[in-house]
Amino acid sequence: MTKVLIATDKPFSPVAVNGIRNIIEGAGFELALLEKYTDVKDFYAAVTDVDALIVRSDKVTKEVIDAASKLKIVVRAGAGYDNLDLDACTAKRIVAMNTPGQNSNAVAELALGFMIYMARTCFTPATGSELSGKRLGIHAYGNVGRLVAQKAKALGMDIIAFDPFIPAEAITKDGVKVAKNLEELYSNSDYLSLHIPATAETKESINYNFLSLMPKGACLVNTARKEVINEADMEKILAERTDLKYITDIAAGNNDALMAFAPRYFATPKKMGAQTSEANVNAGLAAANQIVDFIKNGVTKFKVNK
Ligand code: 3PG
Repeated sequence: MTKVLIATDKPFSPVAVNGIRNIIEGAGFELALLEKYTDVKDFYAAVTDVDALIVRSDKVTKEVIDAASKLKIVVRAGAGYDNLDLDACTAKRIVAMNTPGQNSNAVAELALGFMIYMARTCFTPATGSELSGKRLGIHAYGNVGRLVAQKAKALGMDIIAFDPFIPAEAITKDGVKVAKNLEELYSNSDYLSLHIPATAETKESINYNFLSLMPKGACLVNTARKEVINEADMEKILAERTDLKYITDIAAGNNDALMAFAPRYFATPKKMGAQTSEANVNAGLAAANQIVDFIKNGVTKFKVNK
C-alpha cells in the first residue's frame, strides 16, 4: 500500500492533519505522522518505507533522501523550497513540489501586524505613529508581496515595489509604484517588507549598502528567510543608526547580539508567518491532493526540480 508520511518539526493544526488524512486514506493510501521530532535520526527512521513525504520547513537533506529508498515524491507544504535538496531528489528521480500561494495570506497578515507592532512602540504606552501615509516598499511582488500591498493600501500606505521578474504593468495595475532598482526602493521605504526566496543569488544580499539607504526611522520587516540578510551588516547598521528597526519571524543567526538593540529589534520565538489554522489547511490539503494526483495520474504541475 502507498504510504505517505507527514514529517513536521512545527506541526500542522489538528484540523489540517485530519483533512490530510481524509484525502490520503480516501485515496486508499496509508498515512503516518512524525511531529515535533527532536532528533533528525527519528526523521531518517520514519522515511525508510514511505512512498510520499509532506514537510514544512523541515530539511530534506541528501541523508533523508538516501534513507528513503521507496520515496517517489516530496511536497513542501508552503512556498519556499530552500529546505529541499533538489539535486539529491533529482538524482533519485524523486519529484519535489511546493504549494505556491496556499499560505500567502497568513504571511501577509503577519507582515502588516509586524508594522503595526513597531509603529505602536511594541504595544508599550509610549506615543507611536500610524501606518497611514507612510511609504511601504515591497521587495518581490509574488503571492505574498501582492497581498501585503493590497492590505497596506486599505491602511492608506503609499506603496512602491521592486520585482525584476514581474512586468511593471502587473504591479501598477494594483495602484503600486514600480521602483527602477533596489536603491530607489530602499531609499523610499519607511517600511520595507521582504518577500524574496533564499537562493544562491539572494543569500546575504540585504547588506549594509541597501540598509544604509533607508530613511530616518525606517523599519525592515522580514517574513521571508533569515538567510537573505547579511547579519553582520545588520548588527553594524543597527549600532550606527539608532533610528533603524528590524522585525522578523525568523530569528537572526546572531540573535543574541541583535537583542542588544531591542526594542528596535524583535524576533518571534518560532517562525510563525504561515502558522494559522487556515494556512495549515490550505497548504496541507494542497500537498495531500498533489500527492494523490501524482501517484494516481502522474500530475507534476507544481514540480520544482528537474
Ligand atoms: C513558506 O515558505 O511557505 C513559509 O515560510 C512557511 O514556512 P513554515 O511551513 O515552516 O511555516
